Amino acid sequence: MKAVVMNGFGSADVFTLQERPIPLPKEGEVRIRIKAAAFNPVDWKIRENWFGGDPNQILGCDCSGIVDAIGPDVKEFAVGDEVYAMSIIRSSNGSYAEFVCVPVELATAKPRQLTFEEAAAIPLAAMTAYRATLALPVYKTRDSVFVAGAGGGVGSFATQFIRQAGVKEIITIAKDEKSALFLQRNLGFAKDHILIYEGLTIEQMKEKLIAMNKGDLFEATVDLVGQEIKRLCLELTGYSGHFSTILPEDDFVFPIWNENSIPRGRNMSILQVAVGAQLGQADRRYWDIYAYHLELISEMLEKGTLKPPVVEVVGLLSASTVQKAHRLLEQGRVKGKLVMAIG
Ligand SMILES: NC(=O)c1ccc[n+]([C@@H]2O[C@H](COP(=O)([O-])OP(=O)(O)OC[C@H]3O[C@@H](n4cnc5c(N)ncnc54)[C@H](OP(=O)(O)O)[C@@H]3O)[C@@H](O)[C@H]2O)c1
Repeated sequence: MKAVVMNGFGSADVFTLQERPIPLPKEGEVRIRIKAAAFNPVDWKIRENWFGGDPNQILGCDCSGIVDAIGPDVKEFAVGDEVYAMSIIRSSNGSYAEFVCVPVELATAKPRQLTFEEAAAIPLAAMTAYRATLALPVYKTRDSVFVAGAGGGVGSFATQFIRQAGVKEIITIAKDEKSALFLQRNLGFAKDHILIYEGLTIEQMKEKLIAMNKGDLFEATVDLVGQEIKRLCLELTGYSGHFSTILPEDDFVFPIWNENSIPRGRNMSILQVAVGAQLGQADRRYWDIYAYHLELISEMLEKGTLKPPVVEVVGLLSASTVQKAHRLLEQGRVKGKLVMAIG
């Protein structure tokens, strides 16, 4: 099969298109002939050696396609099924390739009305957003919620999930007018619920966001950006409030247990999300959570209560498509999701 392979850790130049053996599905796995693969920021972080691993791996955490072979004991899928899947940790390879084998828990039927490109954009971002919001039912209808990073892959789902919980007041930030317009047009944000942050200090942002929230701290905050924005979110979370982050950062220090710390002083709950957490366990009973969440997400997509993100097809399976997508993601300005067409 053709695959875009990493030739060592480093810059976006490390990729080449190579011929690799087609993987064979093992027990409890399906093989997918990939039609589209999505890009995620973790791809360039792996490429830059943030987490170690195989320097010659095929990256890519998400795909959609058609089941073309099934492993022993697979009852959930048949050859010819249209599916989408998350291809991390337990898959034969990443999704920058023509084929991938994944455990059945990480695949689900593609909603009929979605294109393969839209379906590929869903698994990792939607499951992360679900864990950061609806999976822990903390939102109340009258809550005001602050989301940082609303226009990105995860944010496109997180804002929809928070609205599904009944929340009407979601306030967010955008770098500039162009980014704000994307949020208004595609994610239904009111203009006066978006703060343009370019040129503002964190203190100025905090002051303005509290003013936008009628002078109050927020009942809940969601950090999809990290570092100083994570600090901002924590400081904006009110009494008995809830703070979620999807950026578990080693070097981020914020006192939570000290007598004078904000989380303790405000009786705050904190949730940190790692979407691949259960896949670290070899016992596959832990993986059922993915099948469950993918099924819930698919049901919402089928019913139309959840919309796929805005998708930009960067190109066809090639090293230059991957390089272009990585360079765009590294800048942190992507709106919706970037996808590669395959096959
Ligand atoms: N823990 C997990 O399991 C998990 C899972 C998925 C993703 N992640 C991580 O979560 C992060 C978000 O993922 P994603 O896929 O949503 O990324 P993404 O699509 O690249 O997010 C891009 C968005 O972030 C916004 N943004 C960037 N810098 C910002 C800043 N300083 N302040 C406010 N907004 C900012 C941008 O809006 P503007 O252009 O308006 O700034 C842009 O719309 C990534 O770092 C990713 O690696 C973690």
